Amino acid sequence: MKAINTMRLTFDSRSANESFARTSVAAFLCQLDPAMDELMDIKTAVSEAVTNAIVHGYRDCIGKVTVTTALYENHRVVIKVQDKGCGIEDIAKAREPLFTTAPEEERAGLGFAVMESLTDKLRVSSRPGKGTTVTLERQIRSKDEAHEQHR
Ligand SMILES: Nc1ncnc2c1ncn2[C@@H]1O[C@H](COP(=O)(O)OP(=O)(O)OP(=O)(O)O)[C@@H](O)[C@H]1O
Ligand SMILES: [Mg+2]
Repeated sequence: MKAINTMRLTFDSRSANESFARTSVAAFLCQLDPAMDELMDIKTAVSEAVTNAIVHGYRDCIGKVTVTTALYENHRVVIKVQDKGCGIEDIAKAREPLFTTAPEEERAGLGFAVMESLTDKLRVSSRPGKGTTVTLERQIRSKDEAHEQHR
């Protein structure tokens, strides 16, 4: 299905750009008039994926992170967070709650679990040495629809 509207953002893998990325996605999604809680969920999921690209993908170097957001019919939102960093050896293992390769940095290993719980669909594709793409999908309600549900 063809996207109704898209955006693409590429930035350096510096931690200062994590809030830039999540705020930019949220600003783009405002055209859907989303409910605040849904916007918060999406920002949190984007933040986890972008942080992973920065701290794991480009562990020892600075590279480029690309975030694309596409809007489809019925307020379906698809966000891709892509890096060309080290990649993931075992994706199934990496997605397990509490699995982390950075315990010394006091990482909890919960990023993928959080992304999963805040989206309708989470896809991870990765090749060691080539990089990682995380695709987050979520259908959002408009503020009006959210209001209707609470009546
Ligand atoms: N973009 C990426 N590039 C390379 N490895 C990744 C990437 N994203 C995740 N990983 C690997 O998957 C593991 C699990 O990621 P997850 O986000 O669930 O936990 P974490 O980042 O280790 O901890 P937390 O997110 O709780 O701070 C990471 O420890 C890392 O080994
Ligand atoms: Mg993480």
